[in-house]
Amino acid sequence: MRKKIVAGNWKMNKSFQEAEELIEDLLDLMEDNALENPEMVICTPFPYLELATDMTDESLISVGAQNVSEHESGAYTGEVSASMLNSIGLNYCIVGHSERRKYFNESSQLLKEKVDVLLNHNIQPIFCCGELIEEREKEIHFDIVKTQITESLFHLNKEAFENVVIAYEPVWAIGTGVTATAGQAQEMHAFIRNLIKEQYGEETANNISILYGGSCNAKNARELFANPDVDGGLIGGASLKADDFYHIYKSF
Ligand code: PGA
Repeated sequence: MRKKIVAGNWKMNKSFQEAEELIEDLLDLMEDNALENPEMVICTPFPYLELATDMTDESLISVGAQNVSEHESGAYTGEVSASMLNSIGLNYCIVGHSERRKYFNESSQLLKEKVDVLLNHNIQPIFCCGELIEEREKEIHFDIVKTQITESLFHLNKEAFENVVIAYEPVWAIGTGVTATAGQAQEMHAFIRNLIKEQYGEETANNISILYGGSCNAKNARELFANPDVDGGLIGGASLKADDFYHIYKSF
């Protein structure tokens, strides 16, 4: 059975002290109520990753990064490699977030390289895909998502692909307070699962976790997660408050 996952994407927020407080609060909330399924993941900024892995070491909380270099090592000032992330015990890394596609011009080809380098170092990519509002209005949202997934993931063999987590994040829903309806989310998630089925077969399709992201919060999570093909969420704003994030985690 596929894993359910609630992952927090902190983006570029919080001081070191605030990060420590938030993790402490989450650990307190999780103390008596931690579940194997869903898995809670926090994707913190780079400077707090080691703090996060240390603090959560004996808990069921997993830690992820928000970005990785496509290069193995060497003269790439300012970059962080997958082997570095692996060496501090990370489980996950977000790849292809729309903010990185937009502000850092990350292309499908580059994302493919990032996916490869993560898998080579045993880190599960949380691969984001999703359409712009104009693309939905033109009714090409399925084509857009299909292209994103095909170009950056479908070169993988089945065994490697089974370590990928997909996050469908309609760009118009990210940070806007406008959420996809439960119906829109389910429709796209079922479409994605079917693409995977065509490429890798039914068993693989059934084992891949497909998360929803975009203004998912403590109020709407339950309805979104009730969909058969929605296996959890990638949560931005609402992951910055322990109570809200924990509430989402308990929304299955
Ligand atoms: P949001 O962000 O929950 O603040 O909309 C989601 C994301 O960008 O991953």
